[in-house]
Amino acid sequence: MITHRPRRNRKNQAIRSLVEENSVSVKDFIYPVFLINGKNKQTEIKSMPGIYRYSLDLLLKEIESCLKLGITTFAPFPNIEEKLKNKTASESWNKKGIYLRAIKEIKKQFPEAILMTDVAMDPYSSDGHDGFVKNGEILNDETLEILARMAVAQAEAGSDMVGPSDMMDGRVGYIREELDEAGFNNVSIMAYTAKYASAFYGPFRDALESAPKFGDKKTYQMNPANSKEALLEAELDFAEGADFLMVKPALAYLDVIKLLNDNFALPIAAYHVSGEYAMVKAAAAKGWIDGDKTRDEVLLSIKRAGAKIILTYFAKEWALKHK
Ligand code: PBG
Repeated sequence: MITHRPRRNRKNQAIRSLVEENSVSVKDFIYPVFLINGKNKQTEIKSMPGIYRYSLDLLLKEIESCLKLGITTFAPFPNIEEKLKNKTASESWNKKGIYLRAIKEIKKQFPEAILMTDVAMDPYSSDGHDGFVKNGEILNDETLEILARMAVAQAEAGSDMVGPSDMMDGRVGYIREELDEAGFNNVSIMAYTAKYASAFYGPFRDALESAPKFGDKKTYQMNPANSKEALLEAELDFAEGADFLMVKPALAYLDVIKLLNDNFALPIAAYHVSGEYAMVKAAAAKGWIDGDKTRDEVLLSIKRAGAKIILTYFAKEWALKHK
């Protein structure tokens, strides 16, 4: 006799739904969006089918249509013209630059839209690195001042949440202090806590044209071989005042998502990155997998691992398909 028949709990959709432990909701998403200079401009990112860089006028329309679909939170990234890049990333705190102007305008037109703004030097850096470079070295403490200046400028423009994606030591605490000092104790910090030196970022660097001009990011981003180190990074970000802990990428690091979720009371976010999006799109385009089902399964697995929040390029597509 077979006493336990787990299949009984799978026998029809209603029962399967009753016993379902996890689900994905449009409320879980943060939608990364790409901004370019100009007017009425929309350029496709070849390695990210369906994802575009938008000039501000069109980005506003895109955000409006996403808000209607129930997406509440957006993470804009700027594609900065090469001629505006320099060693100190000074364009990042230029109030007339495309990024700060866009933050201001988005919040003005859609005060209900939550903006998570990016704090790192690479989109503005002539070296294509997330930190300040001297003699081929990425300097930590010199970078902190730049990051804090960027974060405060974004807060002034109306950012709800800053996301330091740079992986310098001590930056969460440094940014927290500078934000508070400038009167922005209500601006949250989404810490890129366990950000790995990953090959999955390729398409994103195409989108921003921000690939490093020399070397790689291994002296600041984490070694994919390590998970204890993720705990250390999380302890530091927690102690320094982060409001959210993020793991990035997501799929190849589900164990790290679970590790942080099991050990910290803060909400965990996962960045389902550009290369992970591109893989699903490419295989689906070849007819090798069912793109819709794969998308849904992947997002669900990230929730199951313990992420409450998912940054994903699939946000809008998911919302459209699950209306
Ligand atoms: C850099 C940054 C990267 C991403 C977000 N911020 C790339 C990198 O570290 O080189 C990647 C996101 C993605 O691949 O979707 N500050």
